[in-house]
Amino acid sequence: MAADKATKKKKIAVIGAGHVGLVTAAAFAELGHSVTCVDNDKKKIVHLKKQILPFFEPELEELVKKNIRKKKLSFSHNVGESIRLCNILFIAVGTPPQADGAADLSAVENIARLIARNMKEYTLIVEKSTVPVQTGIKIKETIMRYRRGDIPFDVASNPEFLREGKAVYDCFYPARIVIGVETERAEKILKDLYAPLKVPIITTDMNTAEIIKHASNSFLATKISFINAVSRICDLTGADVKKVAQGMGLDPRIGREFLDAGVGYGGFCFPKDVEAFSYISKKVGYEFRLLDEVKKINDDQRRYFVEKIREHLWVLKDKKIAVLGLAFKPDTDDMRFAPSIEIIHSLVSCNARLRVYDPQAMNEAKQFLPKRGVRYAETLYEAVRGCDCACFLTQWQEFVSADFKKIKTLMKLPLIIDGRNMFDKKELIRIGFTYASIGR
Ligand code: UDX
Repeated sequence: MAADKATKKKKIAVIGAGHVGLVTAAAFAELGHSVTCVDNDKKKIVHLKKQILPFFEPELEELVKKNIRKKKLSFSHNVGESIRLCNILFIAVGTPPQADGAADLSAVENIARLIARNMKEYTLIVEKSTVPVQTGIKIKETIMRYRRGDIPFDVASNPEFLREGKAVYDCFYPARIVIGVETERAEKILKDLYAPLKVPIITTDMNTAEIIKHASNSFLATKISFINAVSRICDLTGADVKKVAQGMGLDPRIGREFLDAGVGYGGFCFPKDVEAFSYISKKVGYEFRLLDEVKKINDDQRRYFVEKIREHLWVLKDKKIAVLGLAFKPDTDDMRFAPSIEIIHSLVSCNARLRVYDPQAMNEAKQFLPKRGVRYAETLYEAVRGCDCACFLTQWQEFVSADFKKIKTLMKLPLIIDGRNMFDKKELIRIGFTYASIGR
């Protein structure tokens, strides 16, 4: 009876208006639920109320605007009030990495205390943030410790697998939904919330759900580092890593996805999640050395890329180099842990003169790139003008469909170094470029 009551009310608060939180809030609103998206960053909430989004994500703006109009989605900076008004709370606050690789869980703990102090009736607390295994149990213990009286509650883990740039699509068409619960009541509420999606739901205990998230991201990162290691052997033997990936990927046990060699993975998930899984494994008593190697191979790809440029230009001092693609992947303006950052810092430290361009991440990039030695171009063509070399680091469609005959006439030397194996090698050589890529 009580479960039905909680299910019917379906007043959801998503706490944290970052990438995961905002997309989740908008998606639940679109599914017909009443959702408040909460963040203690007042400025962010003021902007969101004016329908100004804090980051670029395809299709999200329309989804947010539509659901504000339909009064399904609202925003608040008052976390305590939102907890008092809602009975399903998704925690989607940041869990940034600390120096030792461990996730900083202070925001999660703070929210757990706020929930304990403010909840008024049965509340389901769902962790969405990427957190180390056993965090759900810690949230539960914290709420038990600080709650007033014995208001009933459940904690559940419901990890998010969305990709930036495809986040809205991933919310509506996920490969699976994982719910880690301790009670049937929590399971029913979550299954009802997701019912309209009609996708496989796997129900587990909380620790298992948390490990599914760790293991999925770390496995994908491992696949990327594996193919990057193979690409090095391809370079040493004259083989073609793209063909190798194709040949491997046709085996359904392997699959073609996440076998693209290049300058390695970046973004706010893989780098921090691999480190966090390695850290937590060690903490519970297992040295996951494979993951340490995954990280090393990834770091190495950036250095290897700079070596490739040096192989062609010899001395980098005073060479004009265009760096095309700054975001960690296409269709996002996210620069966090982007391979471009390390590569650009390294080139600038050799006194190369850089011209950089990205279709979306120009503003973001300014916070991450060196102040000296970098000029920002307004177009790809402006960036390559007079350059000795053009390096491509992100696979934007705009680059794939660029006019390379024009690019050749603009450059001082027709040299392209492709960090994502995104161009047709034969075609560029035919146009007259010297072309280098990774592992082919
Ligand atoms: C990832 C997971 O895919 C997602 O399920 C999880 O919820 C969050 O982390 P995201 O970080 O948005 O998503 O990006 P993704 O598309 O997975 O790419 C991650 C990085 O790996 C990018 O830098 C990308 O360029 C790189 N990558 C990806 C490769 O280098 N090679 C590949 O074959 C695939």
